[in-house]
Amino acid sequence: MLNTVGIAESSLWTRADAMKVHADDPTATMPAISYDFPVMNEDYWIWDTWPLRDIHGQVVSFQGWTVIFALVADRSKYGWSNRNDGARIAYFYSRGGLNWVFGGHLLKDGANPRSWEWSGCTIMAPGTANSVEVFFTSVNQTPPQSVPAQCKGYIYADDTGVRFEGFDEVTDLFEADGLYYADYTENNFWDFRDPHVFINPEDGKTYVLFEGNVAMDRGTVPVGKDEIGPVPPETVTPDGARYTAAAIGIARATNEARTEWKMLPPLVTAFGVNDQTERPHVVFQDGLTYLFTISHHSTYAEGLDGPDGVYGFVSENGIFGPYEPLNSSGLVLGNPSSQPYQAYSHYVMTNGLVTSFIDTVPSSDPTVFRYGGTLAPTVKLELVGHRSFVTEVKGYGYIPPQIEWLTEATADLF
Ligand code: FRU
Repeated sequence: MLNTVGIAESSLWTRADAMKVHADDPTATMPAISYDFPVMNEDYWIWDTWPLRDIHGQVVSFQGWTVIFALVADRSKYGWSNRNDGARIAYFYSRGGLNWVFGGHLLKDGANPRSWEWSGCTIMAPGTANSVEVFFTSVNQTPPQSVPAQCKGYIYADDTGVRFEGFDEVTDLFEADGLYYADYTENNFWDFRDPHVFINPEDGKTYVLFEGNVAMDRGTVPVGKDEIGPVPPETVTPDGARYTAAAIGIARATNEARTEWKMLPPLVTAFGVNDQTERPHVVFQDGLTYLFTISHHSTYAEGLDGPDGVYGFVSENGIFGPYEPLNSSGLVLGNPSSQPYQAYSHYVMTNGLVTSFIDTVPSSDPTVFRYGGTLAPTVKLELVGHRSFVTEVKGYGYIPPQIEWLTEATADLF
């Protein structure tokens, strides 16, 4: 069925699908992280992380340096639990993608017109060979605002390291429209953030994925048969399920500068299933489109359960779907139930490597925890049709480069 803008309607992650989610499935569980994990940086809490990449998703080596970006907060001013009160984007660089040197904040002080810098992506951009664009979420506490935004600058590197210039002017891109995506007046628990920009190989156009909620006045609509799906007899859908309504959003760039966007209906919705599908991103492999997103145990709808981790959906018909949950359930890599909050904010790269940050790891005495705020061991996923398998554990924070920027071989991608 086609809707008014002529593309397939949103695919549903149903309650029936989510009933197939089981923690500790060995093929979809992140191996336990050791209590003795190393800390990447003593001065900053580090959480959501993404690599410098090209617009097709390949991790870039710029003059021999790999670069990553992460949300950081000063450990001397903020605790792990209130780190969002100091959230800024910082960059780190490395030869080979293992030992990361802190480079500094990416945006100039005062460039962001709002309080905090939340997640997004950083890509090599058209312009000069060292043009870089960051798309991030510009967040304000009062009044509540969460605005996908863009900021541009340049990367420079020499034998001693990497630095960025520019990044002093922020352009807002779009806001929740209240039509496809809930705005604050409809849902004061609304999520609208985490832009991930890419070129769709099918039509060559530039799109952005983002986290949203289904547009409706929160809690006023009962969860319907379609969202429940084919469930066993006597299955009860608790009334409170109507308060959860995550959506994986998409918009198309309508100008070359990627400052103007047309909102499109969500790709996947989870009304009655889960309230958050964060940091959505995409991997194109073997003619299939894999859509990944992170979600929490705590954001599942009443009556459902699942681990914190990365979830996925697969389409055989390109970016607009229809999508099916990967592994039938949607669960791709959950935390083990022995360490349910060990890691979060997984990001799946096009080579199947998955980075995430360490949140909280219990000691042998389960009442004693260690906070992370540093990168988790990278794990390797194999994507096989509609299934995924975890196959390897690599080093802590291992994010190797995939292409040299800018060689003759990569110049035509640019
Ligand atoms: C995921 C997340 C993102 C958000 C950031 C804020 O861990 O909730 O959706 O941009 O963290 O810290």
